Amino acid sequence: MAREMLGIDIGGSGIKGAPVDLSDGAFTRARFRLDTPRPARPKPVAKVLAEIVDHFGWDGPVGVTYPGVVIDGVAMSAANVSKHWLGVDAAHLFAEATGREVTVLNDADAAGVAEMRLGTGRDRRGTVVLLTLGTGIGSALFTDGVLVPNTEFGHIQIDGMDAELRASAKARTEEGLGWRRWAKRLSVYMAHLEALISPSLIIVGGGVSRKSEHFLPLIEGVRAEVVPARLVNNAGIVGAAMAADAAHPAEKAAPAARRVRASGRTGGPQREPGAAEAAR
Ligand code: BGC
Repeated sequence: MAREMLGIDIGGSGIKGAPVDLSDGAFTRARFRLDTPRPARPKPVAKVLAEIVDHFGWDGPVGVTYPGVVIDGVAMSAANVSKHWLGVDAAHLFAEATGREVTVLNDADAAGVAEMRLGTGRDRRGTVVLLTLGTGIGSALFTDGVLVPNTEFGHIQIDGMDAELRASAKARTEEGLGWRRWAKRLSVYMAHLEALISPSLIIVGGGVSRKSEHFLPLIEGVRAEVVPARLVNNAGIVGAAMAADAAHPAEKAAPAARRVRASGRTGGPQREPGAAEAAR
């Protein structure tokens, strides 16, 4: 039987989770979403995580994304979230709130891990970078498929300004930029990044990558291949589940069914379209 892990993605407006079949990234139950509490301080967020874990009746380890630098479970930056997160041991806080073992990693790193395993980055060697274009710009750097965690390429300074303030998807909508003007900003950003790390492949993720035909053909002056991500919205959940799996090798032998309590269901887990399906 395939192994499963519960992945949860903390986003600006919603906190979403699903048990993930690790062999193909499919969700084995329907994704469950709750609003991100406002303000999104540590304790209220931890409470929502506990509700999601309870919803699935999950009693195994859990993987959770955080939109900032995470070192050994501790949140070390908070660019687009409440500053109350700084220095908080998120892994410990979430473990206390949920009663489960929790692995926490950066949101873009999680998306990148999923994309490299199951999406556009599959089998790509050399230097690959995934950029998530959303409220901010997240980055995940891979060398021969291995993640270099916590890169913060959204904060590269260009003309004395954080790159994400000019080139994120939020900047496009807030400033009412047309695709062409936004693509110009993205081109400057990507060319700058390319000068620093020389990737052979740039994978563009985040919700806006679903509309990649409007802006990727307009990218100029970048030598690397630039392609849209395939998993888009589900990538964070899938990558979080993969991180929990990597952190708990001993759990690997346990069949999935033992980790999902019945919670009113009969029979085996019902498959929901997840990452793999979304990718097709
Ligand atoms: C944060 C990154 C995060 C990205 C996307 C940036 O502002 O610094 O850590 O990955 O936003 O959420």
